[in-house]
Amino acid sequence: MLNRLEAQAPDALLALIKLHAADERPDKIDLGVGVYRTGQGDTPVFSAIKAAEQQLVDRQDSKSYLGPEGDMGFVNRLMPYIFGADATMGGRIAGMQTPGGTGAVRLALALAQKAGMTRLHMGVPSWPNHAQILNDLALETVTFAHANADGTANIEAVLDVVRRAGPNEGVLLHGCCHNPTGIDYSDEEWDAIGDAFVESGTFPIIDTAYQGLGHGLEEDAAGLRSVLAKVPEAFICYSCDKNFGMYRDRVGAFYVLADGQETLDTAFSNANALARASWSMPPDHGAAAIRLILRDDELTKMWLDELDTMRSRMREVRSTLAEAGMAGGVDLTPLGRQNGLFSMLPVSKEQVVQLREEHGIYMAGSGRINIAGLTAGNIEKFVASLAAVTG
Ligand code: LMR
Repeated sequence: MLNRLEAQAPDALLALIKLHAADERPDKIDLGVGVYRTGQGDTPVFSAIKAAEQQLVDRQDSKSYLGPEGDMGFVNRLMPYIFGADATMGGRIAGMQTPGGTGAVRLALALAQKAGMTRLHMGVPSWPNHAQILNDLALETVTFAHANADGTANIEAVLDVVRRAGPNEGVLLHGCCHNPTGIDYSDEEWDAIGDAFVESGTFPIIDTAYQGLGHGLEEDAAGLRSVLAKVPEAFICYSCDKNFGMYRDRVGAFYVLADGQETLDTAFSNANALARASWSMPPDHGAAAIRLILRDDELTKMWLDELDTMRSRMREVRSTLAEAGMAGGVDLTPLGRQNGLFSMLPVSKEQVVQLREEHGIYMAGSGRINIAGLTAGNIEKFVASLAAVTG
């Protein structure tokens, strides 16, 4: 039976981790998978997380099962940061824990499919795993180009798709710090997007995996909140992998906006059943640690300060890059205006390979770079190498 299986290529992004690890060149640069790095190139555990983990070691008195919804203390305490002071919007939003943001996206799409969504519209380029999940669910997907060549949003294309889609169809948007383009919509653009959803009755699915990495927790949630304030229903997929640095601990959440408690209860009875049949229950550790942070003012402050440091470093790398590009003869100015961990370089697939093989610079095949992989010590080499392969 197993001989009938066709071999699958490894996930290209995850395969880069191994390729980079096997490279012995001391000046290699890892701009591949999306993890934050300090100016020294490390991805440390947040001090707030360490402190909360210590509390867990000392005080956790049981590891017995919680249920498919996971740690609801974590889910609920996170809500004001995502949705604002009226975190449930008058009892119209509820959530559950998922294994990472990926689990939330998987659950959102599976639930949408179960509720009768016939087609999903997705701007490309997007995070490659979106397409893989959609393909695995066999949910019909229509793609559209959402970015201009100069690294700005093609807002007319986004609005056109939302207006034309209509009931029983969904549009998948990124809440902030778009992966892989680093594009964010302006407040006016979000406003128009929200209106377009209302006019057409199209269902919004908003993937928010980088809140706090763009301009700040509040600023990065503004677009999401403005859409939610207008539409009757929506799904929100959330990841704590980056803004709490929890990557391998897989901490995410799935939230639903609906017309009230009864609809929410029914939606979550289905979401719980889907979760039970997929992963049964999400891993507890990371979510429990975040719950402890969010219920303690001191630990919360520690976390927010650490997040500020990450964000400032990335903003600094972006402006240094834009300047260094100018001096080095490569136009990197769009990267200076974009947000979050990622941006796309104007390079061909061949140039990506050349950068890797000849210069030891690792990035996704699409030309996406992880901004946080750049430091004062390697930006010069990066720009010179880029100039050499593109010049
Ligand atoms: C990325 O895009 O690099 C991250 O979101 C990690 C992942 O799971 O792909």
